[in-house]
Amino acid sequence: MNKNVLVTGGAGFIGSNFIRYLQENAPETKIINLDLLTYAGSLENLKDLPAPKNYTFVKGDICDQPLVERLLRENQIDTIVHFAAESHVDRSLKGPGAFVQTNIVGTYALLEAARQVWLKENPGSSDIYRFHHISTDEVFGTLSPTDPAFEECTPYAPNSPYAASKASSDHLVRSYAHSFGLPITISNCSNNYGPYQFPEKLIPLMILNALTGKPLPIYGDGMQIRDWLYVEDHCEAIWKIVHEGKLGESYNIGGGNQPPNIEIVKTICAILDELAPTADHTPHEQLITYVTDRPGHDRRYAMNIEKISRELDWQPKYDLKTGLHKTVKWYLENIDWLNAIIEEKDYQNWVQINYQRRDN
Ligand code: NAD
Ligand code: TYD
Repeated sequence: MNKNVLVTGGAGFIGSNFIRYLQENAPETKIINLDLLTYAGSLENLKDLPAPKNYTFVKGDICDQPLVERLLRENQIDTIVHFAAESHVDRSLKGPGAFVQTNIVGTYALLEAARQVWLKENPGSSDIYRFHHISTDEVFGTLSPTDPAFEECTPYAPNSPYAASKASSDHLVRSYAHSFGLPITISNCSNNYGPYQFPEKLIPLMILNALTGKPLPIYGDGMQIRDWLYVEDHCEAIWKIVHEGKLGESYNIGGGNQPPNIEIVKTICAILDELAPTADHTPHEQLITYVTDRPGHDRRYAMNIEKISRELDWQPKYDLKTGLHKTVKWYLENIDWLNAIIEEKDYQNWVQINYQRRDN
């Protein structure tokens, strides 16, 4: 059955990849993209969509409940896929307020709008609706080198303001199912990488800095571990959960790629040496620079994905080597996209704040 989907945060990294994924794999799906276009969102991420007639962009805030209610009614939305968030841990350490507002209050406004329009105005038809909430593995806290990977039932123990705001939104979503019968699913995903990721996160930042001959800043000893997932794999998992996931349930999503940060950065350098052998800064590894650690830095994340594999027959398709190669190649071919971001004042200010005054 064709769906009418409200995607929030569809101009950001994962949201824009998800919209492209939907247009390629379910082109009849009607998509409304609600995005505030903060520093992290750009319509440049959505150029050349395959099925533009089924796509509408609305600039607006997820905290604006009347706007969300109107969009749900006017477009007969039956599915919400909720990506919109403040998403960067380092920014949450410098200014947690925006994280509380968007991630917690914004999720509340969406839930309340869905409750009003879906449950109160259309009683008895809740089985046609789905509110899918995108969350993170960071809600589970940190693992030691020998701890088993996070499972869906691992107790929440968020450490950063970002993780705490996402944990809070997960609890709100769960409570709307339990208290009001809102038809929800949640996915908790590990670190994504791929095209259109804003160059504040590890992988695109390292590619950008290597290309421009800037230091590659490794926090602490560089031995922290993340469970890297190529973004297209994430999009496929989300769409499966929206269709086949059990109501009220959460699903862990991960890539099974868990080398320490320093190894990821060295691999990026080696791929750049191979793809851009005449660049001024080859070998790019010479740019690696150890810097003061992130406060409260989580040591290790790893996801147990047995539930989604067993129940929904989902497995990641990309290994890290293939995914990183594809990603570096994309950034090399889209250097104008990167240049447009780094020319923004906000970006320059951020680099200044984060990397030159890490102790404040
Ligand atoms: P992003 O920062 O690239 O994009 C966020 C988008 O949300 C932007 O387009 C921004 O303009 C929009 N937005 C922010 N505040 C808004 C508001 N108040 N109203 C409407 N739109 C608003 O984020 P991302 O990396 O694409 O992450 C998307 C989601 O996935 C987030 O919920 C994040 O917590 C989650 N997640 C991300 C990762 C990852 O590795 N990036 C991993 C797991 C989960
Ligand atoms: P990041 O991409 O910010 O994602 P998250 O903090 O949500 O996991 O960071 C990934 C890892 O890379 C994390 O351990 C912090 C580290 N890191 C650096 O060492 N240097 C950097 O400049 C950045 C942005 C991250």
